[in-house]
Amino acid sequence: MSTTIQSLRDYREKGQKFSCLTAYDATFAGLLSDCGIDVQLVGDSLGMVLQGRESTVPVSMEDMVYHTECVARAQPESLVMTDLPFMSYATTGQCLHNAARLMQAGAQMVKIEGTDWMAESVHQLTERGVPVCAHLGLTPQFINKLGGYRVQGKGAEAAERMVAHARRLVEAGADVILLECVTSSLGTRITREVGVPVIGIGAGPDTDGQVLVLQDILGISRGHKPRFVKDFLQEGGSVEGAVRAYDQAVKNGEFPDSKHSFSG
Ligand code: KIV
Repeated sequence: MSTTIQSLRDYREKGQKFSCLTAYDATFAGLLSDCGIDVQLVGDSLGMVLQGRESTVPVSMEDMVYHTECVARAQPESLVMTDLPFMSYATTGQCLHNAARLMQAGAQMVKIEGTDWMAESVHQLTERGVPVCAHLGLTPQFINKLGGYRVQGKGAEAAERMVAHARRLVEAGADVILLECVTSSLGTRITREVGVPVIGIGAGPDTDGQVLVLQDILGISRGHKPRFVKDFLQEGGSVEGAVRAYDQAVKNGEFPDSKHSFSG
């Protein structure tokens, strides 16, 4: 049965964890679906993973439409979520226009990075039938402003700010919150305090779902490996085995453990 936004709400309600991996092409989209991955993220991480770029900043709408179509053609049972790329949602008008392009390419939810400044766009999208995931914490499209890939929301004031932003975006209509690179305690707090499914990446074990980049769980990513990444190919023994091992570890609550989380 296909995963929908309602499935994610039901999982949260029942305390059942769900899995998410990035997918950029039809072959992997089919495999991930067969392995029971609940959500496939056509992430703008494709800029680094597929295109060999330094960051996600140069990724275009055309890239995201193309890869969303590739994933959607596999007709996965997983929910397909696609990133709106850098500056494609800078104004509410641009956001609505570009979200429509992604939904027509086959996305079932769009993801946008930022804080409370996105509230109006989130509201307008959800009013028009576009489910939204709001990505908070380490937001890679802001790398030039952040000055490095670091844990976010550290310290009482920064943590309160992030909680307030998450609440505001949910009030505006965000269906899902994604938290990247925050301490486990902040991940736990936001998951408890917002009434929608929360997906974590480096946000500790208590979020409702977990996401990783596919190439990271296969141990084939180049360059620096963040602490929250785990190579599942070792235990899985094959590409399919690695995807199944990741899915099971997330659903059993075995991943992430403290080695793959940030304390504080
Ligand atoms: O683009 C991406 O793959 C992402 C995840 C790492 C959360 O945004």
